[in-house]
Amino acid sequence: MKAEILKLLREADGYVSGQQLCEKFGVSRTAVWKVIRQLQEEGYQVEAVRNKGYHIVDSPDVMTKEELDSLMDTQWAGRNIVYYDSVDSTNLRIKQMGDEGAPEGTLAVADKQTAGRGRRGRSWDSPSGSSIYMSLLLRPEIEPDQAPMLTLVMALSVAEGIMDCGDSCGNPDVKIKWPNDIIVNGKKLVGILTEMSTQIDYINHVTIGVGINVNLTEFPEEIRETATSLRLECGHVVKRAPLIAAVMKRFEQNYTVFLEHGDLSGLKERYSELLVNKDREVRILGAKEQYNAYALGINQTGELIVRKEDGTEEAVYAGEVSV
Ligand code: BTN
Repeated sequence: MKAEILKLLREADGYVSGQQLCEKFGVSRTAVWKVIRQLQEEGYQVEAVRNKGYHIVDSPDVMTKEELDSLMDTQWAGRNIVYYDSVDSTNLRIKQMGDEGAPEGTLAVADKQTAGRGRRGRSWDSPSGSSIYMSLLLRPEIEPDQAPMLTLVMALSVAEGIMDCGDSCGNPDVKIKWPNDIIVNGKKLVGILTEMSTQIDYINHVTIGVGINVNLTEFPEEIRETATSLRLECGHVVKRAPLIAAVMKRFEQNYTVFLEHGDLSGLKERYSELLVNKDREVRILGAKEQYNAYALGINQTGELIVRKEDGTEEAVYAGEVSV
């Protein structure tokens, strides 16, 4: 009921009367008042005016299941939210939920991770109150070798979700560093870790974990020069829950396009437009030779298309490129 009251108050043009809320949820005025008090205690500014009702003036950077549920505007992505104040790693939780039969679109969100995992066996620093740590469960009917493309679908969705939030995220100039980091002003804002549970030729489930540096102002020594946050870029606190909802909305749309084609052909133009490496020189570290080439964009399977000095074009895999 709390999430629904929040949604109603947010969507209302003006005040919502206590009577309306009582009738809608079939509860007493006292029960409604209790929920309003809880919201105020969580930091929401809810005005209560006699003979008019309730009106939400502002909501802080609250990240609760109710806040997330009330903002989610999707059919299935992020519709089953499991929220943790603190957890080892949202990727580990989603993998476990995947094994236990949780539905596609289940989203684990944490305020803090005690064992946040990055790519290549690295850790992902995950203090509380300042960032987004979330993992999404997918059950795609695709071949295991198509799954790495999902990381690119998520990278595009995160970039678009941030842009959709506009002023509230400070309108940063987000770019994608192929294949799947999000960069602002040359520094890393978002990391994505995709993990897959498979049989020999069959995907049980895929976990896509996303870490977004939202309000962090301090980073560990080793990434201090290379990492940034939305707050550092725009100078004000950014609300995390609406950003999560915006990313889920974009992901749901982009994933549908991906499944329709079975590859990235419906998304590669938009992805390539956001590529930080586009029209820049990159170093290709092939098995036989190393050379510099110009990045042109991605192809439908997510490989980077480069133009060599002799004018020929080549598609290269992740791991073969140093940028
Ligand atoms: C990277 O190394 O760039 C990927 C970082 C991915 C971090 C996210 S935070 C939410 C999810 N849970 C984890 O343990 N890792 C991912």
